[in-house]
Amino acid sequence: MAAYKLFVLPGDGIGPEIMAEVEKITAWLTREGIVGFEIEKGLVGGAAYDVHGVAISDADMARAEAADAVLLAAVGGPKWDGVPYDVRPEAGLLRLRKDMALFANLRPAICYPALADASSLKRELVDGLDLMIVRELTGGVYFGEPKQIIDLGNGQKRAIDTQVYDTYEIERIGRVAFELARKRRNKVTSSEKRNVMKSGVLWNEVITALRAREYPDVELEHQLADALGMQLVRRPKQFDVIVTDNLFGDMLSDVAAMLTGSLGMLPSASLGETNPQTGTRKALYEPVHGSAPDIAGRGVANPIAMIGSLAMALRYSFGLGAIADKIEGAISGVLDKGLRTADIAAGAKETLSTAQMGDAILEELRIAFK
Ligand code: IPM
Ligand code: MN
Repeated sequence: MAAYKLFVLPGDGIGPEIMAEVEKITAWLTREGIVGFEIEKGLVGGAAYDVHGVAISDADMARAEAADAVLLAAVGGPKWDGVPYDVRPEAGLLRLRKDMALFANLRPAICYPALADASSLKRELVDGLDLMIVRELTGGVYFGEPKQIIDLGNGQKRAIDTQVYDTYEIERIGRVAFELARKRRNKVTSSEKRNVMKSGVLWNEVITALRAREYPDVELEHQLADALGMQLVRRPKQFDVIVTDNLFGDMLSDVAAMLTGSLGMLPSASLGETNPQTGTRKALYEPVHGSAPDIAGRGVANPIAMIGSLAMALRYSFGLGAIADKIEGAISGVLDKGLRTADIAAGAKETLSTAQMGDAILEELRIAFK
């Protein structure tokens, strides 16, 4: 059996707890001869800072680059509030994204019917929701220069962040969105703030031209980012694929996550360009949620977004969509049985710990493979 090289970065907070549940599943898949995995583990975020004084070491960066896929849980926490900006936990994640050129972040928001009552919106608004946020991940204000705080010498300081996008960056993320839409419901909503930002003007122009040139069969609409935020909580089922920049994508995906019942439900895939020679692409898979330091170490975190991220790795990196379907099916099977972690406990028959949820999903998976 060929073995996929997975580089695993549990990170901080609840990261190690939820990653342990993924490792139960990968170990089982390998034991059963279904998918072979070779797993290496590294340090990222505060965990890396504590050992190496940086948010990710060069050695672990090299391992990430060499892997078939990277799985990351979460970074950050109050313990590292005082560390220098350049080595803060988030810098490790941002370096992975930038150095591996993972420009396309896919954040699917699916509301499992069993969870519609856990959403903060009315059931009928979210039941059956299935949208995909395509977030640009290596550009925009996250990485634009200058990025600094300068002392003006008169008792004032000035903070500068730079929002910058080149045509090629908008085109390549646009292509990802249009290609995905063709496999879904064939509709793309592009979002920016062209009414106040030059980057929004260019974004809008480039996406419009790309669609006219290469994707005339796909429906395209534009919504200003503030209006889109409003529409997401007003009538979320109008959306299929949403394509937007790094910062708006960050915000809007947290909103979308909550529609599904809990931030603990959303996986994501961060993908690089496909190498034309090998047909492979660099990729990192991680939950949309953070390290949840408030509940870390208590065994109550929801591992579903992390396990869903493994399913995305099987689908997008290894072409094992059928096995990914089984993992996602196992998740929804467990939810259908009324089994819940605390964050999605509304209407639960039973509230499970992190490990019990992992076990329940694995049990469901066993049945699916019988
Ligand atoms: C996310 C996170 C990160 C981001 C943080 C941890 C740097 O919020 O992946 O959405 O802002 O991109
Ligand atoms: Mn975020």
